[in-house]
Amino acid sequence: MKILHLSDTHLTGDDRLLFGSSPRERLAAAIDAIRRDHADASFCLFTGDLAENGALAAYRQLADLAATLPMPCHFLAGNHDARSQLLQVLAPDHPHSQSFVQQVIDTEQGRFLLLDTQRKASARGELCETRRAWLREQLEAAAPEQGFWLVMHHPPLALGIPSMDQYALEQAELLWETLRPHRQRIRHILFGHVHRAISGSWHGIAFSCCKSTNHQVALDLVTRSVDVPGSHDAPGFSVILIEPERVVVHHQEFLAKGSAFFL
Ligand SMILES: [Fe+2]
Repeated sequence: MKILHLSDTHLTGDDRLLFGSSPRERLAAAIDAIRRDHADASFCLFTGDLAENGALAAYRQLADLAATLPMPCHFLAGNHDARSQLLQVLAPDHPHSQSFVQQVIDTEQGRFLLLDTQRKASARGELCETRRAWLREQLEAAAPEQGFWLVMHHPPLALGIPSMDQYALEQAELLWETLRPHRQRIRHILFGHVHRAISGSWHGIAFSCCKSTNHQVALDLVTRSVDVPGSHDAPGFSVILIEPERVVVHHQEFLAKGSAFFL
């Protein structure tokens, strides 16, 4: 099974540039690359910050672009998003619980749990008791052999980039407490928010973060400031190959120029 992970599209709803590039044009370029090379993917996950400022027009831009893809797309909210506008445009019929943007996707390679970590008026991530209960319910209700994927916007750990670590999931320990009894069945954690290609493990569970389709965070392991150092590194998305015994995450940049060649 192949799936695609895109994140932090930061669409503005118009053609404004954001940090020197057009979020709409860059997402369109990503979608062209997907249509050309990955049309066989089962689905696309968009892990939040879909819009820069939660504008209805931004979600319409995303809906229009996503409609050109041959596979289903599933969306999460990030700290820049407005849940009601997102749901109104992108998932008007979806049975989202408790008005959170979260859902369960069953696949041949396990159950994907899309967990909403947005906290009102904050860049930090939140796992409130309602969402924690939802997560626990999904984990406990499944058959013992059921594998899981956890998908969210905020990382549940510090990644060594101080300016972003201050905006990670606040209740990471509570998340771990919830996951711990099921740790053997959690195949991978996917998140966005950090605008970089990052992989590693947390409490022994593999994770990966994908780049933004528009602007990147700098690999600055020193600066401690409210504002986040940015970078003009190339944008990208992830291509994830999944079989029973392996998970492979490829980080694909999609603006490369020049003709193809053999090594
Ligand atoms: Fe973002």
